Amino acid sequence: MATRRNVLAVVALALATAVSSAAPAVAGSDNDTLRAAARGSGVRIGTAVDMTALADDAEYRALVAAQFDSVTAENVMKWESIEPQQGQYNWAPADRLVDFAKANGQVVRGHTLVWHNQNPSWLTEAAFTPEQLRQILRDHIKTQVRHFRGKVYQWDVVNEVFNDDGTLRDTIWLRNLGPGYIADAFRWAHEADPKAKLYLNDYNNEGVNAKSDAYYALTKQLRSQGVPIHGYGMQGHLGVQYGFPGSVFDNVRRFDALGVQTAFTEVDVRMILPVDATKEQAQAYGFSTLLQACLLARHCVSYTVWGFTDKYSWVPGWFDGQGAATPYTEAFQPKPAREALFHTFQLAR
Ligand code: G3I
Repeated sequence: MATRRNVLAVVALALATAVSSAAPAVAGSDNDTLRAAARGSGVRIGTAVDMTALADDAEYRALVAAQFDSVTAENVMKWESIEPQQGQYNWAPADRLVDFAKANGQVVRGHTLVWHNQNPSWLTEAAFTPEQLRQILRDHIKTQVRHFRGKVYQWDVVNEVFNDDGTLRDTIWLRNLGPGYIADAFRWAHEADPKAKLYLNDYNNEGVNAKSDAYYALTKQLRSQGVPIHGYGMQGHLGVQYGFPGSVFDNVRRFDALGVQTAFTEVDVRMILPVDATKEQAQAYGFSTLLQACLLARHCVSYTVWGFTDKYSWVPGWFDGQGAATPYTEAFQPKPAREALFHTFQLAR
């Protein structure tokens, strides 16, 4: 762990890789994999997994198994998928991911228990009373966490609960239950699996800004009240056209000082298409910057990319004219970003 904190080495390496124009090497042996490079660094390297691709695409499946030691369900642990009808749980797709992870020596991050998106219509379209909603939320959290007890090591308990200005997001939960729903969610999850690490998770909270300030204050407050909160997740959805949050180092360190874990949970770096070499180098720098911040922190424990190949990335479907946001091309060729991650890990060993 001590070498992981070798600031100068990490920074020097990352800078070197960011400007390197060398062609990326195709991973050939186990030693060339991201998970091998990450070994001993104290940081797990993860990817979001698209379960349809995992079932149907052998090349995709082989790379998930070979390159990563942590997996997150991109969609199948979300409420609309896991409890599509009230009280009726659809465990099979998520169980398949858990089984895959076990077979490949990987851990599983759970995403996500409480969110304002991808909720089933039975939940959002009916007129439940606040008391009923509280019961529904408790049942959902307890049932889901209990089902995966001992199999999911980190949970994104609440996802995206703040607006960018640091005010609480207006959701079905805030409107009906008040801000105390956040503490309750953590308590219920902890009761269902006392060993799981329980996280806050959001986007645009990587650097020091109004949103991360709100998370910092909330984390302090919850911990002072004895609420079982263990981690702060930064999604890391970046774009080369926006530049990268330099204050990410300071931000991660201030959460370190609070004694909570940190994790980068959904990293991708999109660009305005078409792809060119300059954008790819900038992208490599973005991926590497977040990894450096993680490696330099005492309690940053995982770094997950939100899909590793452009073949299945969510980005083109959401941002018109943008894409190429992951470390591998659609044809599964490693990009400079993938090499930057590899070398940044290597330097930190
Ligand atoms: O399941 C339906 C399927 O039945 C239907 O045939 C198909 C037709 O479009 O849609 C399917 O649903 C899609 C779902 O992913 C599952 O594939 C939705 O349309 C699509 O909107 C949904 O997108 C997901 C998005 O969250 C929704 O919020 C992305 O795959 C997923 O990558 C993305 O992930 C989020 C994280 O959870 C939280 N942070 C931001 C991140 C990116 O938005």
